[in-house]
Amino acid sequence: MNDKNQKLINSLISSFSVKLKPLVNDFVIRDNKAFITLKAKDYDDAKNLERYKKECEEILKNKNIFDEIFISFTEKEELFNKVIAISSCKGGVGKSTIAVNLALALKRLNYSVGLLDADIYGPSVPKLLKISAKPEVDEKKKIIPVTQQGLKVMSIGLLIEEEKPIIWRGPMIQGALTQLIEEVKWGKLDFLVVDLPPGTGDAYLAVLQKLKIDYSLIVTTSQDLAIADTKKGINLMLKFNIPVTGIIENMSYFECDHCSEPNYIFGKNGVEDLAKQFNTKVVAKLPIISEFEEGLKQNNSKLENKEKIFNNLAENLIN
Ligand SMILES: Nc1ncnc2c1ncn2[C@@H]1O[C@H](COP(=O)(O)OP(=O)(O)OP(=O)(O)O)[C@@H](O)[C@H]1O
Ligand SMILES: [Mg+2]
Repeated sequence: MNDKNQKLINSLISSFSVKLKPLVNDFVIRDNKAFITLKAKDYDDAKNLERYKKECEEILKNKNIFDEIFISFTEKEELFNKVIAISSCKGGVGKSTIAVNLALALKRLNYSVGLLDADIYGPSVPKLLKISAKPEVDEKKKIIPVTQQGLKVMSIGLLIEEEKPIIWRGPMIQGALTQLIEEVKWGKLDFLVVDLPPGTGDAYLAVLQKLKIDYSLIVTTSQDLAIADTKKGINLMLKFNIPVTGIIENMSYFECDHCSEPNYIFGKNGVEDLAKQFNTKVVAKLPIISEFEEGLKQNNSKLENKEKIFNNLAENLIN
């Protein structure tokens, strides 16, 4: 963060009341928008602290500096034992594919697993898992997630009509994500796997604020452009105090039947260097698997290798 922003943040925090000040967990300024997370132990605690959230909002609004202000609590959803975020700022690098396959691998290990598609602009989990059912609502108006291949799945794509683009604006983004997290009857889960949206927009930041993420896996390919965007994503994660568990290099190499060695089409060292830079490790290198989409559709037996890769990833994560 540049010095000017840091100075502004310090001076704003110094104008908070003595009770509000110690509640500030993180404060990020981006594109003239303020993202503040306040500490809360759980939902009840957050409810009791609501007045400090209002105080924070009023002070910031009266300063007339920010176009939009997002304030959230850090309360941990007790239902989720561990939350795993699959992210990258780069689009199309395989986040959703990996989120779905990792969730299925955890399920194969007999854990109870939820899959939250947090991509409100381009939800792809319903398509990847071929879900056609719509979620029902229980007597308390909670949304019941759709169960598919043993996973409890929730996605904005299950709630809205397909192919009708929605223009999400500031407060609507937080509203939609809050609904997907808090108004869904998830039940107790060992793992909630979250497929994050591409980019570093408001939706991405709202998820980082809303969910207490235990593990984050960053997906990238090794092209320079992908790595440059991924760096931005990692830096944002760190600003929200989210640990970077590891990096997954996707579409790393190609194996053909008559080649003696794998072909690293996009170069071999880019992702390793990125991991070193952030003091983390490359936890998996996934090849280009041409049957990926087919396999998800029909449990193709050619995909045993792919299953093995995700089983290993899931086991490493747990250990
Ligand atoms: N290892 C792989 N081998 C071959 N194809 C892959 C691989 N990983 C992903 N794909 C394909 O690449 C495309 C993009 O993948 P996916 O939708 O998972 O990316 P994403 O990062 O979630 O994209 P977005 O940023 O749009 O959300 C899909 O068609 C998917 O099947
Ligand atoms: Mg996606």
